[in-house]
Amino acid sequence: MSYFTYKESRLSAENIDLAGLVKSISTPFYCYSLSSLQDKYKTLSSSYKNDNLLICYSIKANSNQSIIKCFSDLGSGADVVSIGELKRALKAKIPNKKIVFSGVGKTTEEINYALEKDILMFNVESLDELKHLSVLAKNQGKKAPTAIRINPNIAAGGNAKISTGKTEDKFGISWEDAIDIYNIADSLEGIEIKGIDIHIGSQINDLDPFSKSFECILDIIKELESRNFNIDIIDIGGGIGIDYKDEGKNLNIDEYFELVQEKLGDLGKTIIIEPGRYLTAESGVLVTEIIYVKKESNKNFVIVDAGMNDFIRPTLYGAEHKILPVIENTRSNSLEPYDIVGPICETGDLFFKNLPLDNPKKGDLLALLSVGAYGSVLSSNYNSRPTISEVLVKDHQSELIRDKIEIDEIVKRDKIPDWL
Ligand code: LLP
Repeated sequence: MSYFTYKESRLSAENIDLAGLVKSISTPFYCYSLSSLQDKYKTLSSSYKNDNLLICYSIKANSNQSIIKCFSDLGSGADVVSIGELKRALKAKIPNKKIVFSGVGKTTEEINYALEKDILMFNVESLDELKHLSVLAKNQGKKAPTAIRINPNIAAGGNAKISTGKTEDKFGISWEDAIDIYNIADSLEGIEIKGIDIHIGSQINDLDPFSKSFECILDIIKELESRNFNIDIIDIGGGIGIDYKDEGKNLNIDEYFELVQEKLGDLGKTIIIEPGRYLTAESGVLVTEIIYVKKESNKNFVIVDAGMNDFIRPTLYGAEHKILPVIENTRSNSLEPYDIVGPICETGDLFFKNLPLDNPKKGDLLALLSVGAYGSVLSSNYNSRPTISEVLVKDHQSELIRDKIEIDEIVKRDKIPDWL
């Protein structure tokens, strides 16, 4: 169910009128529905029928601490990829023993901090990293709980830019080298082997690549156990796709978990999943105002106040996000196609091509849907534009959960040296 619905032709987030919010919050802004976020988490956690599942919310999808707190309150752990995400997770009350640390480039500072915080597991992505982790753990008189991330050489994901499981991708250690790496890990003093990890890509709406990747790690687990390695945790990563275009072609969660259960569920191990998009995407909208309407002999444009710096998915991945008028109108009862573009000086600053609209006007509001994942986190200050606000809504309540970072604050960070 969607928590963004029309009430008397006005789009609302739960019981908050989005056009009403504009009176106190300047556009553009992100708006999230807490009930929607909670529903997503509960659907996921209740769809797996075994009790050995740990959901580690992948914070990169949306790292606002209120969003993280929403999931930690429901029992979630976290998948982090930087010291910043780790700090945010801890501040939002994710227990340290529910945090896994992924990423190909963990720095000394990041590893040391995570070791001090006694996190659940490091998902190691190279031999170099493994050795470095061992040294740093030894220095702290500890053993680092470790999983090896396996690269299964499987193509998956909504776009080549977000596929991570092929040999040519930088992620993980080739399945062919897995046993060798575990042998080395076993010989290193600062390493405690805990588990195995895999993550093949994002926005995956087909069970087949998941199935192949589970089989790949199952083979490795069997081989490891025949050699007396202890694998307590199987981390199967994120990647669950969503239905951006309302096509009904998205992954069926029950079928996904049936597959998990069938392939890996009865091995007596903890299963970790690292969903990001599934938990957050559909719970957020981006509200933007029309600055100008430009009608030309052969092309119509609507220029809005949000730009690719605020929301880059369409530019970066050619992603299509539905766009709705915040207040429905029937000004002329006829629809014409408009390209919805931002103010940035790049042709790629385009949110939607040929959106049918009824006589849009300067000052009208539009909402981009399903922007709760990889939206605000990917924003930048390109063209010296501010970082926009984020609002959380619950029933009749709304609250700013990130203040706009005003442009003067950004401008004053630059320094001009005396000698210039
Ligand atoms: N675990 C790891 C190790 C990851 O690298 C990712 C995402 C996830 C979990 C969460 O994946 P999800 O459940 O969200 O698919 N910016 C792109 C997506 C990049 C995904 C990066 N890694 C987009 O907007 O589509």
